[in-house]
Amino acid sequence: MSETGPIVARTVAAMREHVALWKAEGNLVAVVPTMGALHDGHLALVKAAQRDCRRVIVTIFVNPTQFAAEEDLDAYPRGEAADLAKLQALGADLAFLPGVDQMYPDGFATNVRVEGLTEVLCGLERPVHFGGVATVVSKLFNQSKADRAYFGEKDYQQFLVVRRMVRDLDIPIEVVPVPTVRESDGLAMSSRNVYLSKEQRAVAPALYKVLSGMATRMAQGETASAAITWGRAALDSAGFDRIEYLEVRDAETLAPIDGATRNARVFVATHMGETRLIDNLAV
Ligand code: PAF
Repeated sequence: MSETGPIVARTVAAMREHVALWKAEGNLVAVVPTMGALHDGHLALVKAAQRDCRRVIVTIFVNPTQFAAEEDLDAYPRGEAADLAKLQALGADLAFLPGVDQMYPDGFATNVRVEGLTEVLCGLERPVHFGGVATVVSKLFNQSKADRAYFGEKDYQQFLVVRRMVRDLDIPIEVVPVPTVRESDGLAMSSRNVYLSKEQRAVAPALYKVLSGMATRMAQGETASAAITWGRAALDSAGFDRIEYLEVRDAETLAPIDGATRNARVFVATHMGETRLIDNLAV
């Protein structure tokens, strides 16, 4: 554990001063973009970054442009002191904590839109979400000038969108996916899990069980549509209020898949009360 904790930078200029020094010393620099409320899933991203790169920046910014008006921007969990303590324990080098005025100054007018990948799965019910993500992530990449960026596979569609954007816009950064971290009962770690009541928390692990069941069925030769029919029935009886989607798609293109299981991934989004839970698994 470091004695002093990470350097805290609240402006782009302050962050860049440190990055310039590190690069002048020949060090690889990683960036881990987050919205704070750090849990073990985020910490796994930091550890993966530390394995590859000498210096690690963690950005903490609850990005307003990726929330629609009716979504949980105001309620989103925030806790700067607790987050910094966790980063100190890991020995992260720098925490970038910009204000909204630093990221979106008056007159800000640009939106980064990645076509195709953003129009399916989560993009159907959250049409502004991925534009906000792509915009803020492209800014964080340009601001940090990091060599590598680490994203959790829990938000697999987000990882694909960011990787596409980086390729399309020639941003000089390598996007690295990190496997989902789960609770002991299989529930994927998420900052939104704190919203779940005790009863909802008891239902939530069914998501992973259903995804695993579908992956096993498909690996044994069942078609995607048969696996989806089974999975829908299992989710219905588990007690979710609504299934937003349950789909099998190609892990690179997100195109629907039926017969073949090569490169297939199962994706799910469900709702319980106000809380939306997503997960995905490779077949
Ligand atoms: O995954 C998240 O926490 C956010 O979407 C990200 C990548 C930090 C952009 O705001």
